[in-house]
Amino acid sequence: MIEGRIVIDPALRVGPVRRRTFGSFVEHLGRCVYTGIYEPEHPSADEDGFRGDVLALTRELGVTTVRYPGGNFVSAYRWEDGIGPVAERPARPDPAWHSTEPNLFGVDEFMAWARKAGVEPMMAVNLGTRGVAEALDLLEYCNLPPGTHWASRRPVPEPYDVRIWCLGNEMDGPWQIGHKTAREYGRLAAETARAMRMLDPDLELVACGSSSSTMPTFGAWEEVVLEETYDLVDHISCHAYYEEQDGDLDSFLASAVDMDHFIDTVVAKADEVGARLGARKRIQVSFDEWNVWYQSRWADATPDGWPVAPPLLEDDYHLADAVVVGGLLIALLRHTDRVAAACQAQLVNVIAPIRTEPVGPARRQPTFHPFAQAARHAAGDVLDVQPESPRRETAKYGPVPVLDAVAARDPETGRTTVFAVNRSTTDPLDLTITVQTSAAEATTLADSDPYARNTAADPDRVTPRPNPDVVVDGDHVRVVLPPVSWNVIHLA
Ligand code: AHR
Repeated sequence: MIEGRIVIDPALRVGPVRRRTFGSFVEHLGRCVYTGIYEPEHPSADEDGFRGDVLALTRELGVTTVRYPGGNFVSAYRWEDGIGPVAERPARPDPAWHSTEPNLFGVDEFMAWARKAGVEPMMAVNLGTRGVAEALDLLEYCNLPPGTHWASRRPVPEPYDVRIWCLGNEMDGPWQIGHKTAREYGRLAAETARAMRMLDPDLELVACGSSSSTMPTFGAWEEVVLEETYDLVDHISCHAYYEEQDGDLDSFLASAVDMDHFIDTVVAKADEVGARLGARKRIQVSFDEWNVWYQSRWADATPDGWPVAPPLLEDDYHLADAVVVGGLLIALLRHTDRVAAACQAQLVNVIAPIRTEPVGPARRQPTFHPFAQAARHAAGDVLDVQPESPRRETAKYGPVPVLDAVAARDPETGRTTVFAVNRSTTDPLDLTITVQTSAAEATTLADSDPYARNTAADPDRVTPRPNPDVVVDGDHVRVVLPPVSWNVIHLA
């Protein structure tokens, strides 16, 4: 047994828990929309064709914000194709995912779905094949009162009132349709932002940052884009996906080390640009795509022909993936002073916590649970807990502490919740929490096999279970965290 320690001290407040930390992402990709959230033929479908089982799981997941409609898809998307009478909507080839987009689901369906799911929409505009004019048209359609061309075509008189908008997607990536240099993109983003603010001054705008911290332009990209857009945008995006490579489970379990470094570097860059420009405002991070994604498995997954909603990027997650997701949530919460929004990519079927069968059941992947528990129990203030534990050598990140943790404390109730991962693949960890509390209870996501999965036959194999090894002892709580585990500890 190894030992670890954390301390609960309200003075170590990082900042408020931001509800947008628990965002997700719906892209027109594979079966995320069609047979994911939308399937009129499904027995649980409602009058709008939305799957009732997926709506229920989305609510259970605790998602607050959903980014839409892409992703790489948005960079060739004509949003007008997805409005008006469904029978008159054109089918188009989607070059990003080599699929046919039938346009049965568009902006209006998304807004109706978001309302039913109880989530805030976060829209992205196409700055790949399109520009300022089309972004203004979409903003008019969504946010202006009836009386002008596009706003009057909206099927409901009340504006959708979308507050947060992404200015394109991953424009630093050579794979992106309409990929640009940082200067080209920065200029276009600035002009789009300026014009959008003329229609609706109170928007929150997200400029594209780097598609990963391994991009050759990482750092330089943020610098140039923010030089062009600093006064006009509120956030800069980060995207990161992690996977176990070459059987190196230790490095994979330590993926949050990369996310920490990514956020710290982007914040430092943004503040450096701000200081150079003499700005008082601070740019925030929108980590609007993050997850585990086995990209190497899907490298040759381009569909034959141009199918509608082919099964793409349908990763089957296991316990270790869920523990990594938990670690990434801890990293996001730890940076709540600068991370204003985050979106786990994606919501359904495509690298997602929810998996559906067409005309069949929907189930929770192991990665569902850390997200749902963090979204439900992280309230009030985020506290740094100063974790101490032995380090384990990793090939990618050098020596990394096996324990990672953060806490959230609701100042109104005094209720504190600790989120903790044990990244050791071999040893249980005896965790001592220094805290004044009268009671404590914990749940743990663990299994004898770090690669245990949930299947149709056994949909709840990997699910949080009460942890019996919790003891309140004077000014301490002690709890045993099994190897490769995600843990939620409630303190009274
Ligand atoms: O989420 C899948 C894809 O990953 C998105 O379309 C793109 O933005 C990113 O590269």
